[in-house]
Amino acid sequence: MAFIKWPFQKYNKKDKENHEALSVIPKHVAIIMDGNGRWANKRNLPRFAGHKEGMDNVKRIVKAANAHQIEVLTLYAFSTENWKRPRKEIEYILKLPKEFLKTYLPELIEQNVRIQTIGHFDQLPDYTKEAVGDAIEQTKANTGLILNIALNYGSRAEMVDVVKSIAKEAQTKDFNIDDVNEQFINNYLYTSQLPEPDLLIRTSGEQRLSNFLLWQLAYTEFWFTDIHWPAFTESEFEEALMAYQARKRRYGGLS
Ligand code: FPP
Repeated sequence: MAFIKWPFQKYNKKDKENHEALSVIPKHVAIIMDGNGRWANKRNLPRFAGHKEGMDNVKRIVKAANAHQIEVLTLYAFSTENWKRPRKEIEYILKLPKEFLKTYLPELIEQNVRIQTIGHFDQLPDYTKEAVGDAIEQTKANTGLILNIALNYGSRAEMVDVVKSIAKEAQTKDFNIDDVNEQFINNYLYTSQLPEPDLLIRTSGEQRLSNFLLWQLAYTEFWFTDIHWPAFTESEFEEALMAYQARKRRYGGLS
């Protein structure tokens, strides 16, 4: 169990006491980074400027997550539904990982961050696959924060993949249907090697899951904020961690 270090300027003495009493850090934080377009619109900037600023914010939040000894940070960067956007915007978003890694990979390596992805990687353009594939390779032995980027990810597509894999196994092996249970299914998820998210953050005021980690979020604590992703600072991230610490997780049982 890791503990958040005080101080967070925003909080008063009572909050500090609460913090000390409840200082539990989530192992796995998942974020729906929403609001890049609205952030740009508000500033009379083109949408891509919001995505660029959103990319830079990834760096800040990764650093904060690492500093708080969070084990896994899953970021929803591109969904299976985002292909419905204009071609130019899709291209811009899918070039961001390359730009991000060109700028920040050395620092991420220095911070011992390990990069992974979930989603249909093969369908991504070559420029995304090459940059991200290279970063995965270069960081695979790192033991710090896992930066898990959801790229061309959709939870329903993941479930389809799970069902297909199990159906294939049923055809080829000595397969007993009664072996199928929650853990069995879990072993086929893209996230099978990761702990389930403890905390889900969604920025920009929407309160929906948008096809993100539907199975994995069954008992996750949710935290929503109106702040757009590019403006979501380390201190708001810490506010979410503080809120998480005050939650009583019962998993359907009694406290
Ligand atoms: C949602 O905001 C955001 C996206 C679809 C793209 C998110 C991508 C990044 C923040 C960059 C990721 C980079 C790396 C390296 C992981 P929106 O465009 O739907 O905003 P809106 O709802 O205000 O229009």
